[in-house]
Amino acid sequence: MTSTRETELRARAAQLDAAHAATDLRTRFLLPEGVVYLDGNSLGALPAGVPAAVEDAVRRQWGRDLIASWNSHGWWQAPERVGDRLAPLLGAAAGQVLVGESTTVRLHQALHAAARMRPAGDVLVVDPASFPTDLYVSAGVAEQVGWQVVECSPDELAGTLADLGSQGRSVAAVSMSHVDFRTGRLWDLPTITAQAHAAGALAVWDLCHSAGAVPVDLDAHDVDLAVGCGYKFLNGGPGAPAFLYVAHRHLAAFSNVLPGWHGHAEPFAMHAGYSPAPGVGRARIGTTPLLSLLALEAALAVFDGVDVRAVRARSLSLTAYLREAIETLVPGTRFASPALDEQRGSQVSVVHPHAYGVVQALIARGVIGDFRTPDVVRLGVAAPYLTHGQMLEAATALAQVLAQGEHLDPAYAERPTVT
Ligand SMILES: Cc1ncc(COP(=O)(O)O)c(C=O)c1O
Repeated sequence: MTSTRETELRARAAQLDAAHAATDLRTRFLLPEGVVYLDGNSLGALPAGVPAAVEDAVRRQWGRDLIASWNSHGWWQAPERVGDRLAPLLGAAAGQVLVGESTTVRLHQALHAAARMRPAGDVLVVDPASFPTDLYVSAGVAEQVGWQVVECSPDELAGTLADLGSQGRSVAAVSMSHVDFRTGRLWDLPTITAQAHAAGALAVWDLCHSAGAVPVDLDAHDVDLAVGCGYKFLNGGPGAPAFLYVAHRHLAAFSNVLPGWHGHAEPFAMHAGYSPAPGVGRARIGTTPLLSLLALEAALAVFDGVDVRAVRARSLSLTAYLREAIETLVPGTRFASPALDEQRGSQVSVVHPHAYGVVQALIARGVIGDFRTPDVVRLGVAAPYLTHGQMLEAATALAQVLAQGEHLDPAYAERPTVT
């Protein structure tokens, strides 16, 4: 690397950071010094308001006000309240988003509900590159409701739907991820949703890697059902509850495969028979882990006064610059993440045969990304708390790791089962 190039890159990082100063939200987070955190697409960083909110929920609400808190502190309404707080980030009007449970559970519910809404459907179309839990849920629900699972990449959907149609098959639902968890590929949600609808199918989206990072505009694009994590770009903390979106037009027909007393129209009447609540609350199951839910609620304050489009603009600048810095400092790098802005989520994925060792060596240098099997170094870019200067630090660390063979350290030869 020539020093001129390094100087140019450094100068550009400073210029870009100045140009994007309005969306630098680092003061809204508590981050350790000396770390470049590129794993916010796995576990978001700690928002500054969360410790006090959790302390308040534990000491004052639980500790002092005890069970009265279900009413006096709005615990009972929290799944819908936090859903409404999250809704603007998803482009959803109020009353359609519910928070609680895990993405896995929510996807089970969404697909079962889709089966009830499309009783004549016999096919579920899924992307085989989906996150494994989505594949397991798809296979499980398909077995339970009698669907055939047909796999196809989102960019081949139109042809697959046409083939299925010509075979007389009826597609009940198309279930895809907005952003591919490995490659960071951002799929065209409006077009795919429209293609599903043209085939008579419902569009079910996994927004785990886009909620809080990419504008989704669920209402504008007529999405039917969607789910997503609370602990990635929404920064809700480890095991934060997930969300479920049910479009208004489907609420009345949404049937809950896991009916429980919290989703009952009159939960405290203690009726023996089940009768669903009228709104999105009908997707509730049982008692939600409140402390996690309240932590997520407090975490969402980092988005106060911030449009997700501004977060996206910062993210695109950061990821484009990170890619450019890596290309400059490590010529010949192969990327799994797309170069085109409109195809790139909020991550840069580098392909390397020793990806696991590369990630571990980067972590040893304070650059925290993660490894995704078989060969991906995944660098998640949570725009609100990262800078272009840190992108350069990450690219420089990668260049040094590879130049010095740090990734070949025998300590990284054996991968632990949990990484
Ligand atoms: C795209 C995607 N879907 C689903 C999940 C899993 O969700 P959960 O563990 O909340 O059920 C993940 C986890 O990383 C994911 O990346």
